[in-house]
Amino acid sequence: PHAPLHRVDGALYVEELDAASLADRFGTPLYVYSRAALETAYRAYADACAGRHARVHYAIKANSNLAILNLFARLGAGFDIVSGGELARVLAAGGRADRTVFSGVGKTAQEMHEALEAGVRCFNVESIAELERLAEVAARAGKRAPVSLRVNPDVDAGTHPYISTGLKSNKFGVAYDAARDAYRRAAALPSLQVVGIDCHIGSQITEIAPYLDATDKVLALVEAIEADGATISHVDVGGGLGIQYNDETPPDIGGFVTTLLDHIAQRGHGHREILFEPGRSLVGNAGVLLTRVEYLKPGETKNFAIVDAAMNDLARPAMYEAYHAIEAVRPRETVPPARYDVVGPVCESGDWLGRDRTLAIEPGDVLAIRSAGAYGFAMSSNYNTRTRAAEILVDRADAHVARQRETVASLFAGEHILPG
Ligand code: LLP
Repeated sequence: PHAPLHRVDGALYVEELDAASLADRFGTPLYVYSRAALETAYRAYADACAGRHARVHYAIKANSNLAILNLFARLGAGFDIVSGGELARVLAAGGRADRTVFSGVGKTAQEMHEALEAGVRCFNVESIAELERLAEVAARAGKRAPVSLRVNPDVDAGTHPYISTGLKSNKFGVAYDAARDAYRRAAALPSLQVVGIDCHIGSQITEIAPYLDATDKVLALVEAIEADGATISHVDVGGGLGIQYNDETPPDIGGFVTTLLDHIAQRGHGHREILFEPGRSLVGNAGVLLTRVEYLKPGETKNFAIVDAAMNDLARPAMYEAYHAIEAVRPRETVPPARYDVVGPVCESGDWLGRDRTLAIEPGDVLAIRSAGAYGFAMSSNYNTRTRAAEILVDRADAHVARQRETVASLFAGEHILPG
C-alpha cells in the first residue's frame, strides 16, 4: 500500500510525498528516509528470527539518527555500538543497554566504564590488551564485564578491500589460531564473564557462502573453547549483508537469516542464541539524497552536472568508488538525455557522486541519489565549511524533520580567536 519509493506519472515519490516538493519545502541537499522501508527491512529480520532464539542488533554506525534508532527500538531491536557517543545515542533514543553490544578495536577505559555502568549486554573484545584493560576497568567498578571475543575467521567475503574485515591482514578481531588461548586468558580474569563469541567478516556481502564458511570455523572454535570449560551462550555472526545499489543480487534478508540459522542448527548448535549485527541492509535502501542541479557544464570529453550535494554529504563514491543510482525526480520529456558526471562543489577532483550517467535535466532540477540511507549522513563532514544536510523521515503523507539543517554559525561556535 505504501511503496516506499515509487513513481507517480513519472515523478518520484517517497511514500505519499512527491520528492520535488520535499526539496522545495526543506531545501537541498536533503536526506529523505521512508519509515515503511525501514520497518519492512527490520521486520524481514525479525520475522525470520521469530521463535528461533535469535536477535537483531542494529549496527548504528550505518545511520545513527535518533528518529531511526527510536523506530527500531520500538520494534524491539537491539543495537551494536562502537563508541561512547553511539551508546549515548542509543540511550537517548529509548534503546535498551541490556540489548546493546559494544564492538570496536579501540575502546577507551572511559568508554568501557560508561558502558559497564549503563549495563550493556556484552563487550565484543578484539585483543588480549583490550581484555586486560576491560578486566581492570570492571574490577575498579566492582563489576563483572560480560565478554565475547571477536575472532577473525580468515575468510574472504569478496567485497571491497576497505570494507572487508575478516581477513588475516586486517586490524580486526583476534586471530583464529590465537582465540582459544585468548578465551583461557579471559576465563582467568575474575572481573570478566565469558558469554559468547563474535565475528564480522565484512560489508556489502552479496553471497551466503562466506557466512557459512565463517560460521563453520567459529562453531569449531566454540566446541574447543567449551571443552576448555567456558560457556558460550551466544554466537554473534556479525553484519555485512549487502543491498542492491546497481546490478548486485544479494540474498533477501529472510532467506539469509533462515539459511544461516538452519545451517547452525544442522551443525548441532541450535541451542545457542544467535545475534545478527546488520547495518546497511536495514537502512541503505530506505534513504535517498536529494540534490539540486546548480550548473550544467558541457566539455570536450565530458559533461558535468554540478549539484549542491558533495563528497562531504555522501563520501562513498569518493572513498570507495561506490556506485549510487542517480535519477531526476521529474525527468524532462522535452530535453534530450545526455551523459554527465555528477559532481559537487567541493575543491577536490575526487568530489564526484556518479560518473557517466544519462540524465534528461536542466539547471534547477532535483536529482535523487539512491541507496543513501546507510553510511550517507553518518559519514558526512563539514569540509569546505558546508553545513550538513537536513534529514527527513517520511511517514505516509507526513514529513518529519529528523534532523534540522545545520547553520554556518554553529559550525564555528566552538572556535576562539586569540585575545588581544
Ligand atoms: N558489525 C561490525 C563489527 C561492523 O564493523 C560493521 C560495519 C557492522 C556490524 C555492520 O555492517 P553492515 O551490515 O552495515 O555491512 N562505510 C562503509 C561500510 C563500513 C562497514 C564497517 N563495519 C561503506 O559505506 O560501505
